[in-house]
Amino acid sequence: MSLRHVAIIMDGNGRWAARRKRPRTFGHQRGARAVKKTIEACIRNDVAYLTLFAFSSENWSRPEQEVQKLMQLFMRSLKKETPELQKQGVQLAFIGDLSRFSEALQESMRKASEPINTEQRLILNIAVNYGGQWDISQACRKLAQEAKDGLIQPESIDEELFQSYTSLHPQPVVDLMIRTGGEHRISNFLLWQIAYSELYFTETLWPDFDMPEFNEIVNAFNRRERRFGQTSEQINA
Ligand code: IPE
Ligand code: IPE
Ligand code: MG
Repeated sequence: MSLRHVAIIMDGNGRWAARRKRPRTFGHQRGARAVKKTIEACIRNDVAYLTLFAFSSENWSRPEQEVQKLMQLFMRSLKKETPELQKQGVQLAFIGDLSRFSEALQESMRKASEPINTEQRLILNIAVNYGGQWDISQACRKLAQEAKDGLIQPESIDEELFQSYTSLHPQPVVDLMIRTGGEHRISNFLLWQIAYSELYFTETLWPDFDMPEFNEIVNAFNRRERRFGQTSEQINA
């Protein structure tokens, strides 16, 4: 089974900084470097879609100063890195409720996600103010409205139709979901799209994540048998 779509919960920046007696925001800065390495690793491994959890809908409840610094870092990184990424064939996209961000940041995201004019090698989705439950409820809202307006019949709502209203449509669902930082939870990241993903948890704190570890995880993924409900005998027939 080929590895098309990887999703990552990039966790552990704060602890990485704390171990060095530095402020949490220093960890976020170093985390940005790990993002670059991961993009490179995806391109080398022919992964076509990468979805990164950068800021959850729950992360607004962090100390105001940390949220502010994260927004600044986000804005700076977008401005600085987008041209180079586009040259490399990376098409950017943003998922989440973007309306809560400043007008300037929304404009930067719109600009950064314009279609690239080089050959596309990777679609990079950045999840910001994203929540898996939000994604499902916004899909429901659209479906309900269309049903009310007579555009769709309630009977026609099945998994395929529902999925077409979720954020990552028409991209394929996630094959492999990685979480760094040692916690074994989803923290309201993608829910619908990871229904049959392989899950991989690593203790590595996000700023330390690099290409050799990514390659190791890809190897582990390749050794797994994705049965999708079938038996091993059926898969190997
Ligand atoms: C992940 O690292 C980055 C964001 C959530 C923005 P954390 O900031 O959660 O780092 P830890 O989990 O506190 O170490
Ligand atoms: C998940 O990490 C969100 C991101 C990586 C952006 P958190 O650090 O916010 O998750 P919890 O609070 O440990 O569940
Ligand atoms: Mg965390």
